[in-house]
Amino acid sequence: MDCMRIKGGKPLKGKVRTQGAKNAALPVMASCLLLREQRMVLDNVPSLQDVETMIALLEALGVSTRREGSRVFFDVPKEISWEAPESLVRMMRASSLVLGPLLARCGRAVLPLPGGCSIGSRPIDLHLKGLIQMGAKVEIRNGFVYAQAEQLWGRRIYLDFPSVGATENLMMAAAFAKGETIVENTAREPEIENLAETLRAMGVQIDAEGTGCIRVRSSAELQNCAGRVIPDRIEACTYLLAGVMTGGQVTVEDVAPQHIDALLAKLEEAGASFSVEKDAATGEKSVTVYPVKRLKPLSVKTMPFPGFPTDLQPQMAAALTLSGGVSLVEESVFQARFLYAAELNRMGADIEIKGDTAVIKGVEKLGGASVKATDLRAGAALILAGLAAENETRVENMEHVLRGYESIDAKLRTLGADVIFEAGAGER
Ligand code: EPZ
Repeated sequence: MDCMRIKGGKPLKGKVRTQGAKNAALPVMASCLLLREQRMVLDNVPSLQDVETMIALLEALGVSTRREGSRVFFDVPKEISWEAPESLVRMMRASSLVLGPLLARCGRAVLPLPGGCSIGSRPIDLHLKGLIQMGAKVEIRNGFVYAQAEQLWGRRIYLDFPSVGATENLMMAAAFAKGETIVENTAREPEIENLAETLRAMGVQIDAEGTGCIRVRSSAELQNCAGRVIPDRIEACTYLLAGVMTGGQVTVEDVAPQHIDALLAKLEEAGASFSVEKDAATGEKSVTVYPVKRLKPLSVKTMPFPGFPTDLQPQMAAALTLSGGVSLVEESVFQARFLYAAELNRMGADIEIKGDTAVIKGVEKLGGASVKATDLRAGAALILAGLAAENETRVENMEHVLRGYESIDAKLRTLGADVIFEAGAGER
């Protein structure tokens, strides 16, 4: 069990650079399965556990991959397997993103039903409902999904919920469907547009543009393509919140400010200040947060993009534990994303969960403790709390955090944090 030891109480200062977005890289990598005896070259691919899991899954299906720094080559052969190995799929829910491309390209797909996780049951009923509307036969037996479609047909599909994964699977499934596919009430996260750009680069005719309606017209043959993963907006916001919580000044480079409007608006409302800079030479943008004494309390409700992101809910809650009043954080996307609250309370926070809302009474300070990460973003929240707390905090189960945060200990040290990462540190 990996753990991170943090000596808190120091204002963070300096610059860090964002990684490629985990939640953009995973669907874009899965889309290479649409190719046949062709190559995808992807830039700005982060080095993360989840990315390695997706690479292993693609290799198991027959794709040859090669990494050169943050560039990854995917060489897709003429024939690939349509059966995703259970061992890999069960490691990562995002493995379900191979369903759409496999069905489109092979006419068949077999993969274990993804399990739930600590933030909710996370079914894929909306993915399957859309595929069935397109003509797929889907059977669920002994925890496996057996999908088959001699031919997928373009249909008008309305998503009951703007599910990110369902949107992505249906975009890829539509690549070879006969006729036009129109998906309505889709997710509008920036990662969706990143996938659309990559599909267009392959030769798929697709209009997305973040409008909530996606049109895909069938494509005959696709072609070799090159793509680039967008900056990770959730990672960027996590480091900005680290700056705010420690009363420091942190700059995050390579950020798309329009992707983090929700956080910037809430920080402004809470009395924090920030600036956006643009590099004259490269056009690249960065965001800086400035020292703030104490955040004002806030009401935050998570919503699909462009609302406040659920992936930032634990980290924002951690910041609000030190605010000057009572905050309300409502989670409307997942069923249960508050497991971190009990851990923060062990550090002196005052959080009470009432239904889908965390009631957070601001305290003067947090104290270091041994705490356990229960999932990726909960772990990030505990690290932020440890950076602001007095004395030492020991965050255990860091393997959750490594799934989505590249070199987090090195990046925090760059900002002056006193952190030590202990791989495989046993239970004390
Ligand atoms: C993606 O998950 C992200 N993961 C999640 O990030 C993120 O929290 C989520 O979108 C919401 O933004 C990746 O992109 C790899 P959803 P996804 O389908 O696609 C329900 C992180 O920390 N639902 O939009 O699984 C579902 O149960 C991760 O980086 C159905 O009921 O999210 C959930 O309550 C965590 N049926 C809600 O919709 C379905 O068929 C949102 O799920 C699909 C979803």
